[in-house]
Amino acid sequence: MKVFIYDTKEDLFKDLANKYSKAIKNNPKINLGLATGSTPVPLYEELIKDHKENKTSYKDVKTFNLDEYIGLPEGHEQSYRTFMNNIFFNHIDINLENTNIPSGSVKDLAMEAFRYDKLLEKNQIDIQLLGIGTNAHIGFNEPGSKFDSNTIIVELAQETRDANVRFFDNMDEVPTTAITMGIGSILKAKKIILVATGDSKAEAIKNTIEGPITTDVPASILQAHENVEIYLDKGASKLLSK
Ligand code: PGA
Repeated sequence: MKVFIYDTKEDLFKDLANKYSKAIKNNPKINLGLATGSTPVPLYEELIKDHKENKTSYKDVKTFNLDEYIGLPEGHEQSYRTFMNNIFFNHIDINLENTNIPSGSVKDLAMEAFRYDKLLEKNQIDIQLLGIGTNAHIGFNEPGSKFDSNTIIVELAQETRDANVRFFDNMDEVPTTAITMGIGSILKAKKIILVATGDSKAEAIKNTIEGPITTDVPASILQAHENVEIYLDKGASKLLSK
């Protein structure tokens, strides 16, 4: 694991966007694994700026998102499809048909998980972007998740629903289940980039980087992947021992 610590969030996301821009220019057909949540929003903003100023093109890029809530109707403003379109895809020259997000609104969710796995089998992800939950979840793989699973339907941990209620009117509206790439699917990416900002992630980051590999800390399995980079601001890194 390589760990990069920045004085400010601004420095972090400028540097990271720069690296993404170079990777896309080097491989215009790159397969990008993308993440939602508030952490990567500044990365998407920097990439939009880069697209406009430096003409970085996404014409041949394919994207694969980690997860989606189950039960929100198509087009719901808090669905991850709507989020990705609004925050990123609608502002770059990507073909929306090349943007993939598991659907949480189809009837046959088991079939949808199967479809998504087949898609990932055909398209190995070059760079998988990850945020991290305060309980160290990655995607929606909550503590206790198996390390070898493919796309699965999961119950959301109460801690995750508490963290995400800010996007909904009240707790009753926060979905209780989701469809997510499993940890096994995530680990198949050639390279993994995990980003965490703010004090609230410090403990999860310490456990991920310095603790034992355990299913109690889903992100700790990243220690076993050969190409992982972790990007932190001061707050998220504050409990690290070195
Ligand atoms: P956040 O979510 O970026 O909104 O903190 C991260 C996650 O739950 O993976």
